[in-house]
Amino acid sequence: HHKYRPFAPVNLTDRTWPGRTLQAPPTWLSTDLRDGNQALLEPLDVDAKWEFFELLCAVGFKEIEVGFPSASRADFAFVRDLIERRAVPDDVTIGVLTPARADLIDRSIEALAGARRAIVHVYNAVSPVFRDVVFRKTRAEVMAMAVDAARRVRALTERRPETQWVLQYSPEAFSATELDFAKAICDAVVEAFGATEEAPVIINLPATVEVATPNVFADQVEWMHRHIARRRAVILSVHPHNDRGTAVAAAELAMMAGAERVEGCLFGNGERTGNVDLVTLALNLYTQGVAPRLDFSRLDEIARKASRLTRLPVHPRHPYVGDLVYTAFSGSHQDAIHKGLSAQRPDAPWNVPYLPLDPKDVGRDYQAVIRVNSQSGKGGVAHLLETHYGVVLPRRMVIGLGAAVQARADEEGGEITAADIWKVFCDRYLKD
Ligand code: KIV
Ligand code: ZN
Repeated sequence: HHKYRPFAPVNLTDRTWPGRTLQAPPTWLSTDLRDGNQALLEPLDVDAKWEFFELLCAVGFKEIEVGFPSASRADFAFVRDLIERRAVPDDVTIGVLTPARADLIDRSIEALAGARRAIVHVYNAVSPVFRDVVFRKTRAEVMAMAVDAARRVRALTERRPETQWVLQYSPEAFSATELDFAKAICDAVVEAFGATEEAPVIINLPATVEVATPNVFADQVEWMHRHIARRRAVILSVHPHNDRGTAVAAAELAMMAGAERVEGCLFGNGERTGNVDLVTLALNLYTQGVAPRLDFSRLDEIARKASRLTRLPVHPRHPYVGDLVYTAFSGSHQDAIHKGLSAQRPDAPWNVPYLPLDPKDVGRDYQAVIRVNSQSGKGGVAHLLETHYGVVLPRRMVIGLGAAVQARADEEGGEITAADIWKVFCDRYLKD
């Protein structure tokens, strides 16, 4: 990551987040096997869950939400299997989601019994529409649900000291909730569980439905960061969804606003428009000079596997991973990239125009970077001939060949491959 030069922060004095440079990546939690899975047309079967779990471990996730065992027998069996087969690496913590209801908490803790370390993720919806319309509960009743849940988790887990237990609490629909109430309920949970600096509670702030601009979400997170009563006994986490298409921005601003943990899914799978895309979010950190501590050096392989398991395609223009994202067709872009690549020294900060990241860092080669169609110029033609056939032409020939290739592209439409260019070259210059 030293190859990437971070931009200087913009200094706006009325807030903290733009002025705080990100120093380290957040703790990542993958909820592919829970939030991602519950949004699939066809949820993952057991084999697919195993394969996905192994993929997440290989990428380097240290916290993985593996299911919703109180709601699904298949999830319960999967969690038991993971634990009984000792399949969870020593440095990985698994977690499960549970509503703040006694019987469901009991079942969830039963599912996690015997784990080395486990996160019990309790949630209840706290926003006015849920209180007034969906559940018809007062603020006090909603708060009591969360507090009772925290006490129950404490009591049940104390009886199972072989596991290192972590309580996570999510006030669902946080971003649509009055901040004073969100704070009060989170403070009460922290207190009820008896969190300490050494054994903190994860307070996870979901944008369950993304309804505001990312800066507003960041303001809410920053307010909580500043006002939570026992901040040192809390790990502040966010869980953005992507309804406005701005989940990545929301998560980035939230990290600058004080969040130290982010929950999301690979390639933005998840309910409706998805959870925040952890691939984009993590790789964006490189451009800030921060290594994400997730290994995406074989990104195409990861995308193929995730896509096969979820049955969801990855868009060809998906940041960092789409088939077309390191490809330039236009002549001026090709020329600039060609010059940038030639000037790039291996250990210097990345400095190639039109490429936000060194394609080699995510397992791509440079060959696909320059591709030729009717929008391309002679530089692209010369580049393909040179990289595929080792032929370096004098300038006058490049001009002639470029024109011939462009005429062909205009005539036929579509992409012109290196082999096509070679054929035009042979027809033109090597006929005899
Ligand atoms: O989006 C959401 O609010 C959730 C919670 C259960 C954390 O997935
Ligand atoms: Zn969610």
